[in-house]
Amino acid sequence: MMKINYWKLVTIGFFLLTNSVYGQERAALINPNVAVFYPDDFNPKANLPSFALVKEPEEQDTLPDSWKVRVEFSEGFGKSMAYIKTDPHTYLYGTGESTGSLLKNGLTKVLWNTDNAYSNRDLNQRMYQTQPWVLGVRQDGTAFGVLADNTWKQEISLGEGILFSSEGPAFRVLVIEGKTPQKVMKSLAKLIGTMELPPLWSLGYQQCRFSYYPDSRVKEIADTFRVKQIPCDVIWMDIHYMDGYRIFTFSPNRFPNPGETNDYLHQKGFKSVWMIDPGVKKEEGYFVYDSGTKRDVWVKTATGKNYVGKVWPGDCVFPDFTMERTQKWWSSLYKNYMANGVDGVWNDMNEPSVFGGPNGTMPVNNVHRGGKEHPADIHLRYHDVYGMMMAKASREGILAANPDKRPFVLSRANYLGGQRYAAAWTGDNSASWEHLRMSVPMVLNLGLSGQPFSGPDIGGFLGNATPELFGQWIATGAFYPFSRAHTVDGSKNQEPWAFGEEIEKVSRTALQRRYCLLPYLYTLFHEASIDGMPVMRPVFFADVRDLNLRREDQAFLLGADLLVVPKWANDPKLPRGIWRTIDLVGENSAKNEYQPDLKQRGGTIIPVGKVIQSTVEYNTDSLTLLVCLNKEMKAKGTLYNDAGDGFEYKNGQYAVDSFSAEKTGNNEVTVTCAKVEGKMHENKRFYRIGLVTEKGIVYSNWKNENQIKVKTLENN
Ligand code: NOJ
Repeated sequence: MMKINYWKLVTIGFFLLTNSVYGQERAALINPNVAVFYPDDFNPKANLPSFALVKEPEEQDTLPDSWKVRVEFSEGFGKSMAYIKTDPHTYLYGTGESTGSLLKNGLTKVLWNTDNAYSNRDLNQRMYQTQPWVLGVRQDGTAFGVLADNTWKQEISLGEGILFSSEGPAFRVLVIEGKTPQKVMKSLAKLIGTMELPPLWSLGYQQCRFSYYPDSRVKEIADTFRVKQIPCDVIWMDIHYMDGYRIFTFSPNRFPNPGETNDYLHQKGFKSVWMIDPGVKKEEGYFVYDSGTKRDVWVKTATGKNYVGKVWPGDCVFPDFTMERTQKWWSSLYKNYMANGVDGVWNDMNEPSVFGGPNGTMPVNNVHRGGKEHPADIHLRYHDVYGMMMAKASREGILAANPDKRPFVLSRANYLGGQRYAAAWTGDNSASWEHLRMSVPMVLNLGLSGQPFSGPDIGGFLGNATPELFGQWIATGAFYPFSRAHTVDGSKNQEPWAFGEEIEKVSRTALQRRYCLLPYLYTLFHEASIDGMPVMRPVFFADVRDLNLRREDQAFLLGADLLVVPKWANDPKLPRGIWRTIDLVGENSAKNEYQPDLKQRGGTIIPVGKVIQSTVEYNTDSLTLLVCLNKEMKAKGTLYNDAGDGFEYKNGQYAVDSFSAEKTGNNEVTVTCAKVEGKMHENKRFYRIGLVTEKGIVYSNWKNENQIKVKTLENN
């Protein structure tokens, strides 16, 4: 109710008080299903180049009269506004990183990247990342998307329409039309680009805390995973590894030899990710401060001084990433750093967060000096892309340091299109049931906003998870695209074994399930890297016309073919049709209080691998093909495979295999496996068919053949 009243107020204000420049000024098609709308006082210098779009749109045609979703611009209250009228009963999603439920109708949200511990500030809606994007799905399943192409501080209000109001100058808006929401997502990806294929290891489970130190503790954690045979790929190093929180340094006491620590981890099949924040300690004699000062790279105050704000190390200066020389300098810092055997980088606090600063950040009239690429302007314009620019420069530095490896960056702050540079986690959540539940719609809406690679802190960051909560969280979290446990400084231990034997077993089983599904998961990541389809998808994607599914945000889809139904889900709405429960590692989810039910869609084949402890052991030499037939007694599936790291896949060193199954006789199904794409050599594989029936999975023997016949049970 509250929100509707607010919306009414906003719209009344919009129509009655702001009609000085009101109307749709200029519009054109940039391709048959994407239109761009310009206000007539559009000033390219104040908004372009776009941070969201990969290239400047070229106008192809005039807008046809039949075009449905139109944008009306206005100015008032010192704001530039774009209003998009929507049909009643339109379901709205996206809006980037936001708390609350999946469906966003009624939301009012400030887009201003904020260090928002507990997700508490500003009516729970001002978050770490900004995606000025709304996906609308009509009752008939057709869809549209609206992108407000500006980076200034702005607000989204969703009521009887979509209203973007920006504190910056008038901005342009792009509108996508699609027959389905999936088509809209693919069109969005063409505009804003996709995530580059990440290294396979980043799809593994990851263990973090604020902070593991000294190095002996890191090794102990890694060893315990292996001794207890709980699959894990990555150990994370938070700020305590640094020397007095100085970025690009290592504490001489806690991590005297980071190269040796990383070697140790590598030998045990782990990777390491280490944190780098943007705030640089203001201290003469510290090489990062000195070299940055020499190059004059810091953000300035309105009066032209270096801006100084407090973060972990005390007084800090902040790189001005709008300048090319800053980007180059920042990237260059990674060369020696990565040479310590660092595998991935965690960019935190990059809203940027400033302790005691106005609204927890730097003053909006601070100055970014820009250059060839970006015009000089105030922080109000560049705040929401600060994290994105930092992640981009980090990624470039990491790539330059290790040109044969795929970079991995996790960034807390980001902006629409930022999936091109970094994965996301949802910041400082709390160890509460509410935040476990909320994690699903958060990851879903990030996916519906162009970011396919995200996840929350499993177990919750602030506070202490109970054993029950951690168990449920890791059992669900095994299916987040980014699967990492993390907890705050001073909290209790939060490793899978820290909660007693039962939860240790729950965690092992959960992670074994994730690792078995890696062939399917990696195929989904590949798909996301090509066409932008989210890895984790809302249930309504299974049947976009079924209105019953439009609000479902407890259960979720992994790709198109696997439904994940958490045990804590209360009356989840599931799609109609054939969806059969699969067990992967003997978990018997039907009787298990923790492990979500996994339901495979009829008509699909899901490739499943072995239980492994780390992706270092990953191979596809033997695969179980889970075959779930549709009514026509057919099924199909695919597998993407490559070296798991490096860029040889771009030269054709990959393989796509397709699998198909059909009824070939009385109670007989034939499964055919064929390589359909790619130059990568694959060993002749051993296959086992698992026919997914209503009564369970019936397995064939292992066969070193590409055509396998299996007997079906009666009634399949
Ligand atoms: C804030 C981040 O959100 C959190 O994940 C991290 O542990 C702390 N900063 C300390 O670096």
